[in-house]
Amino acid sequence: MGAIFQSLGRTILAGFVILVLIIIVTGGAGVRAGDQVWWAFVMRWLHVMSGVMWIGLLWYFNFVQIPSMPKIPDEQKPAIGKVIAPAALFWFRWAALATLVTGVIVGGKYLGSALTFGQGYVTIGIGMWLGIIMAFNVWFIIWPNQKKALGIVQVDADAKAKAARVAMITSRINTMLSIPMLFCMVGQKYNIL
Ligand code: HEM
Repeated sequence: MGAIFQSLGRTILAGFVILVLIIIVTGGAGVRAGDQVWWAFVMRWLHVMSGVMWIGLLWYFNFVQIPSMPKIPDEQKPAIGKVIAPAALFWFRWAALATLVTGVIVGGKYLGSALTFGQGYVTIGIGMWLGIIMAFNVWFIIWPNQKKALGIVQVDADAKAKAARVAMITSRINTMLSIPMLFCMVGQKYNIL
């Protein structure tokens, strides 16, 4: 048992094994592997999983890492800047892309209606636009500026401080947008807007 939890890979695999067992035990009546509905469901599941990874890390940055930085002694700061932040940013930006791609697939059938706020699709249309803006921010503002702030790309001290500030503010903007965005994601089924 301990051997499973000493490895992240084995832990995740164990999660999938439990899922398969649940499907076998329940008979998985609603899930008919392979048909169109099944693929739509799988994409929805992957979409929520990658979204949780993305927004989970966004909230980790904003709720935990950024507020803790001033409390960390200078000589210990490289542990965050050189080890933790780059690893978190790796999963953060790829999860953002995966969420966007799976989201576009999930909404594929009504993408045009949603993005133009057609009748019945206002809720998810707003959610998608917010999500798209947030994903854009991740890839084209936060990540390039974080590369400078963390020293992955070498720049002078002034540019480094400016990059850190731009990344932080944009991360805060995304945290702000995550609230209406998630409302819209889960609200579409209820036609809430
Ligand atoms: C990045 C751009 C995004 C796009 C294009 C997108 C697109 C979609 C679409 C089309 C749906 C289906 C709505 C429906 O017909 O019921 C959906 C649902 C959902 N999305 Fe997103 N989404 C995005 C970002 C996110 C993020 C960041 C999260 C964070 C967790 C998220 C979580 C969800 C959830 C929980 C649902 C509801 C699933 C359900 O009710 O079964 N989405 N999204």
